[in-house]
Amino acid sequence: MTLPDAAVQPIQWHGDALELLDQRVLPLRTETVRCVSAIEVAKAIHEMVVRGAPAIGIAAAYGLVLDARAGRDLVDAAGVLAASRPTAINLHWALARLTALKTTDADRLEAEAQAIFAEDLDQNHRMGALGAALIEPGARVLTHCNTGALATAGHGTALGVIRTAWAKGQLAEVFHTETRPWLQGARLTAWELQQERIPSRMIADAAVAQLMQAKKVDWVIVGADRIAANGDTANKIGTATLAIVAKHYGARVMVVAPSGTFDLNTLRGADIPIETRPDVELTHFRGEAIAPEGHRAFNPVFDVTPAGLIDAIVCEKGVLTAPYSESIRTHLGKT
Ligand code: MRU
Repeated sequence: MTLPDAAVQPIQWHGDALELLDQRVLPLRTETVRCVSAIEVAKAIHEMVVRGAPAIGIAAAYGLVLDARAGRDLVDAAGVLAASRPTAINLHWALARLTALKTTDADRLEAEAQAIFAEDLDQNHRMGALGAALIEPGARVLTHCNTGALATAGHGTALGVIRTAWAKGQLAEVFHTETRPWLQGARLTAWELQQERIPSRMIADAAVAQLMQAKKVDWVIVGADRIAANGDTANKIGTATLAIVAKHYGARVMVVAPSGTFDLNTLRGADIPIETRPDVELTHFRGEAIAPEGHRAFNPVFDVTPAGLIDAIVCEKGVLTAPYSESIRTHLGKT
């Protein structure tokens, strides 16, 4: 297996094109997809060439810039980009930042997209430090999905906390799930941790209770796709299971997400739209059937962790704790 170069950037902006590292084929192959219009960027987001809440927000912002450069209708462009994936609010947040400028000037829109990219990187480093400060020396951690450089402008959110804590010598053990069905953990997180030379072990998603019952995990550290005003958190399918099991066995749960992931207009988790993806992503693997021909599936790809199961939400503005309705309002402003 040829692993991609550590210097490979998941999102590369060329002024007249957006080049995306194709996360569908990592780590087996390093290929990129070049997009020259909002429609092409929306397709890449929908098909998971680029994924992870902050990364799809950044990609969508550049998608809008591409249509501004081409003189296309920006209302249409924003609409097609917004419809590409429903759960991560970062996508809508990034588009709203550009459309709030009320301009079709491509240079101004490009500067805003660049600012979103730069801020995301800076916020990730800040959250890394804030989250690592919560972790006691010798801690064992478990993460889910991929929340690293591939899912953001760099460093990562939950994986950024793990990177920072590892660099400070705080971690005794790092576990990550495989994250079925799309295998973000097995394919992407494992690759990033290898690149960083952070020793880690993968567990099957179904091994979570066994790991926590054996008291091998102190902190479950995850990202988020949307955090409601009361702290309920949508993240990759399986996160709620991790939090419920953690509560049962006494491990703590840390959610790490920048302020662009908070949706103060959504009051509770039940109101967050949950993306359901095609059956074939569950019944097949790399084009080969793993279930009997014609078997039906139900494939929601996010779930909601109730705020009551979360010990801390780390955002770049600070560490939020319960009651979340209050701490979110204090740190992130009123609706
Ligand atoms: O379906 P994906 O791969 O886009 O889902 C990604 C996640 O659920 C991440 O945990 C979340 O977006 C945070 S990424 C910093």
